[in-house]
Amino acid sequence: MGMNPKASEILSLEGKVAMITGAASGIGLATAKLLAKEGASIALIDVDETKGKKAEEQIKELGVKAKFFPCDVASDSDCKKTTEDVYREFGRIDILFNNAGVTRRKDIVELSEEEWDLVLNVNLKAIYLLSRHVIPHMINQGGGSIINTGSGWGLKGGPKAAAYCAAKGGVVNLTRAMAIDHGRQGIRVNCVCPGDVDTPLLHDEAAQLGEDEAEFMKKAADRPLNRIGQSEDIANAVLYFASDMSSWVTGSILVVDGGGLA
Ligand SMILES: NC(=O)c1ccc[n+]([C@@H]2O[C@H](COP(=O)([O-])OP(=O)(O)OC[C@H]3O[C@@H](n4cnc5c(N)ncnc54)[C@H](O)[C@@H]3O)[C@@H](O)[C@H]2O)c1
Repeated sequence: MGMNPKASEILSLEGKVAMITGAASGIGLATAKLLAKEGASIALIDVDETKGKKAEEQIKELGVKAKFFPCDVASDSDCKKTTEDVYREFGRIDILFNNAGVTRRKDIVELSEEEWDLVLNVNLKAIYLLSRHVIPHMINQGGGSIINTGSGWGLKGGPKAAAYCAAKGGVVNLTRAMAIDHGRQGIRVNCVCPGDVDTPLLHDEAAQLGEDEAEFMKKAADRPLNRIGQSEDIANAVLYFASDMSSWVTGSILVVDGGGLA
């Protein structure tokens, strides 16, 4: 970086390695593409092998090193093995985007214990499981950037999403705790809270609620900026946190939702 670098230079991820969970679809895939365009090598992490391999091909076409690692982020043994495999393959880990998520649109009377556990484990516990294996590598390297995907429903409640609201509220405050614990090791930890984004997850919610999909999507667009979010809107915020553009930012919760929460 020169004395008066241009914004494009500060945003560059040349030489960096990014691990992205939920990378086979939606927000994770869009972020993998954007970070790759900024020069990062990409380790794609997902439980869906078919979509994961396709995503790997798409990222390779952008001219960077990319590899898909099948992994259930709710499993500690998977997280440990995947971190070891990524480190062996890429030699370093600079960026960790904890983004994999699932939702079950039910209140607590309707939620089975299995559903509660699934939603809490994939959205929240996985951040603990994967980060605890990745952070020692970042400490050895002198730092890194971790970005967690929260949600507007990590900051306010929502109907028929009790486990999801609990998990995402946890993600928001876990982000702050991690930022405090690891700041002195040069590791920044931040959270992006998306509003409704047009991904398979949101379409699945309409199905879970038994609502008309077109109607559901129209309602999702009803916010100050008058449109539904695109995965790229979220990827842009993740690039900010991943790059030196946010070098004095940690423990920060960024709402990216077209003004919905306002
Ligand atoms: N789409 C929205 O409206 C919205 C709003 C707020 C927050 N979010 C959050 O954004 C994140 C990404 O969601 P998306 O909308 O891109 O959804 P998506 O369904 O398109 O992508 C999620 C990915 O996570 C993967 N995944 C699920 N369980 C996993 C597991 N156990 N291990 C590894 N991978 C797993 C899925 O296979 C999928 O590829 C999630 O954390 C979600 O809660 C989404």
